[in-house]
Amino acid sequence: MKLSVRVPATIANLGPGFDVFALALQEPYETVTVTTRPSERLSLELISKGKYKVPTEPQDNTAGIAALKYLKDFGIAGEFVIEIDKGIRPGGGLGSSAASAAGALYALDSIYCKVDSDALIQYASYGETVSSGTVHHDNVSASILGGLVVNDGHQFLKVPAGDLPIAVATPSVELKTSDSRKVLGDCMPFSEMRNHISSSTLLLHAFLKGDARLIGRFVNSDNVVEKRRASLISGYTEVKQSALKRGAYGVSISGSGPSVFAIAPEEMLEDVSAAMSEAFLDNGLESTAVITKSSDTGSLVIG
Ligand code: HSE
Repeated sequence: MKLSVRVPATIANLGPGFDVFALALQEPYETVTVTTRPSERLSLELISKGKYKVPTEPQDNTAGIAALKYLKDFGIAGEFVIEIDKGIRPGGGLGSSAASAAGALYALDSIYCKVDSDALIQYASYGETVSSGTVHHDNVSASILGGLVVNDGHQFLKVPAGDLPIAVATPSVELKTSDSRKVLGDCMPFSEMRNHISSSTLLLHAFLKGDARLIGRFVNSDNVVEKRRASLISGYTEVKQSALKRGAYGVSISGSGPSVFAIAPEEMLEDVSAAMSEAFLDNGLESTAVITKSSDTGSLVIG
């Protein structure tokens, strides 16, 4: 049996929603294909295809780790091949590692039907232990469900986001999620906590209203994570300011970075995108630009 799943890239955090909010995108995406043949023993081979390479040792790959846990937990034997056609740059902050695990688990559970979507997200998130050292569910949940997903680690609430215009600039440096999490520290003052709760609540309100201008305003209101991570991304402040000057409603770090995303009126996206690339270049960094939209479609079986 063979099954292919298309999986979207995702923007986690969206400013003031650290580990809690993530949004699925129309582009970029990748395709994960699972092939299974009967066998009395369990074996798993990983094949890396496409624009970017990924580790092919199952224990070093988010899809491999998550798939083996699922297969062993349910006592499923067989010869499995997972082919990852990588369209989302690893280490770019667009949920690349999460997408591979989400696609593999979505394909496996479409074949074996063992769990509900909450448990499926838990299994796929297990793969994140490889990339970030801890389990976080934001990218995986939006990769599977699509739309804006709000999670508390146990429940995953999908809020339709429509097709919000978004420009993403990914500078040509890799930033490991584990390193990007180390700068956050363990504590935050009460004043920051209060602001963060109001910002994230108002951001959710803006999504429920479907108001892009308001969404951008509250994307900009992260007073906790952005300032701790900004120095990890060369030229971040200039990139953000130049996008805002060209008409973006809101700009922040995508996931753990180094990608930066901007929400803008559709007719200004090209300009905003060019401004971000120029600002990165002024800071000595080439970058890849993607003009995209949010997507209410998550993982999708395509063949
Ligand atoms: N919420 C995670 C972080 C996302 O910001 O570390 C990682 O892609």
